[in-house]
Amino acid sequence: MSPRIKDDSVEAVGVAADIVDVVSGYTSLRKRGATYSGLCPFHQEKTPSFSVSADKGLYYCFGCGEGGNVFTFVQRLENLSFAEAVEQLGERFSVPVEYEEGKTGSDRDRSGERRLLALLDKTAEFYSRYLWESKGGETARAYLEARGLERAVCEQFRVGLAPGGWRGLHGRALKEGYTEAEMEAAGLLIRQSDKAYDRFRGRLMFPLVDHRGRVVGFGGRTLGDENPKYLNSPEGPVYRKGHLLYGLFQARRAIADSDEVLIVEGYTDVLALAQAGVGNAVASMGTALTDGQLGLLSRFTPNVHFMFDADRAGIEAAQRSGELARSRSLRAMVVPLPPGEDPADVAKKGGAEAVRRLTAGRISILRFELLRALESSDTASAAGRVQAFDVVRAILAKASSPKEREEEVRLIADRLRLSPENVEILVREPGVTAAAPRRGGSLPQSTRGSDVRAVPSYRERVRSPEATVEREFLIAVLSNPEEARGLLGKLDSEHFVDPLHREAFLGLREVILSASPAQVLRDLARDDSELGRFFVRLAVESDVGEYGRAMLHERHLRLEEQHLARAVQQLSARLESGERDVEMERRLVRLGQLQHEVRAMLANVEEG
Ligand code: UTP
Ligand code: MN
Repeated sequence: MSPRIKDDSVEAVGVAADIVDVVSGYTSLRKRGATYSGLCPFHQEKTPSFSVSADKGLYYCFGCGEGGNVFTFVQRLENLSFAEAVEQLGERFSVPVEYEEGKTGSDRDRSGERRLLALLDKTAEFYSRYLWESKGGETARAYLEARGLERAVCEQFRVGLAPGGWRGLHGRALKEGYTEAEMEAAGLLIRQSDKAYDRFRGRLMFPLVDHRGRVVGFGGRTLGDENPKYLNSPEGPVYRKGHLLYGLFQARRAIADSDEVLIVEGYTDVLALAQAGVGNAVASMGTALTDGQLGLLSRFTPNVHFMFDADRAGIEAAQRSGELARSRSLRAMVVPLPPGEDPADVAKKGGAEAVRRLTAGRISILRFELLRALESSDTASAAGRVQAFDVVRAILAKASSPKEREEEVRLIADRLRLSPENVEILVREPGVTAAAPRRGGSLPQSTRGSDVRAVPSYRERVRSPEATVEREFLIAVLSNPEEARGLLGKLDSEHFVDPLHREAFLGLREVILSASPAQVLRDLARDDSELGRFFVRLAVESDVGEYGRAMLHERHLRLEEQHLARAVQQLSARLESGERDVEMERRLVRLGQLQHEVRAMLANVEEG
């Protein structure tokens, strides 16, 4: 549930957030005239086609077409919601963010929440220093070393150690000005009538960091064989279990780069994989994924690979998560692990290469289920095979396409020693194949039939000389708004053939004739539609190129010329087809004169 931020706050953050500063965190920019350019952070490239307009607060990539303002930039690169992007930028540029009153919480709740987050962050620092710098940390350091976890990866994940005493953290936090009630709300303190003591004592601490990089809780592992093995923070105002994936913050770049995420069970699996060079793993923390966690992942990639133990619990977790994933249109696969091994073992033994080999052998959840059913039944006897067949048939009904079904029929036939034809006949019994509709979602649109396109894309259309004149005129208008004001009143949408140019012209006219053009332009560019992106492109192009007043007038004349030529052509066609009308002939003559004048003016412009 994202809280609604006040428009004034969005405005204030937008003004304060320096887009050049923000973008520079992802790619290095060089100043070129009014704009900055660099390699595009949204796609792979060798020569820079990414531009940032500092004045307009916009960016655009001429290579991949990504464009927008500072908010969309952060949203897309960090996979944040709009509200999250505003909050993050507000924090960074020291602009307080205010929220609309309502059920999402008041400003007072928010400032309380900020204090808890600060307390949790300081606590992580405290535990980390205690682990690496204290005498008391010696055992834990030896433990990590024995497990092969190096300091670098531990620091990346901010691993720490809670002191063994009852009130080590308590005393520190009090000194820092936090109350016991706050420590309790942050999940760090246990209060019992008149006593209060640290929740975590003598445990190795794994900070639970949300996808925005904020510490919201901890998982604490015993260094011995105490129960429970892991003690986790309770849910509270800032920690909501079903919405957090361990390691997502550190893995986000690698997930985007590889376009897939590995889901493992444990904290240490994530660390061992990262250390071996496999950076795109996150941990479900020992349970099936919730819909909230899958929703979060779906912002990063549709390719979700479960790397779970082949034990019963692992299989069930994969199945349950898989069902949910399907209803979210995610492509969920299972990477079966060798019996008795967890991902950390695989990474430690064979490094990234071994992990890669394993993931290459990933299978559908359907096949995973089928294999498990087949393996657990007695296929040696005929009776056993018949029984297995019933189970298998029910699973097969979940197939999401005829192709998938066919592949599995072959597997089943092989394992049950039946001919594929017989299997086909058996599964076609009434009520079985009929129960095979797709469950919920399907593949994202972009992966299917995206090349079937009736209308040529803008890229294709814009190559014609007419379209070029139209576009360059629009850019010139943006570059010379004052000068263009008089011209725009003389034009109408008929002057533009390309539909996108037409819309852009109407939008631009509003911008230029409005009292606060910058505001209108920002509103137009904020819109995430083809037109919105086109405005961003125009705005950035107007900064990149040299579009002076002379250019504006020249392109305006060409636009008039094209318009007249079309009108003349239409009129002549009608006259030739037999429509005779004195008025029409007179207009044709008049148009011819105008054409002549415009051409003369153009000749003048070209000489001058
Ligand atoms: P595991 O028992 O597989 O632990 O639980 P692990 O992560 O491999 O840890 P090591 O390698 O033995 O040190 C998997 C995950 O389940 C959650 C934790 O998130 C753990 O990482 N879990 C497990 C708990 O929350 N509490 C427990 O008592 C046990
Ligand atoms: Mn383990």
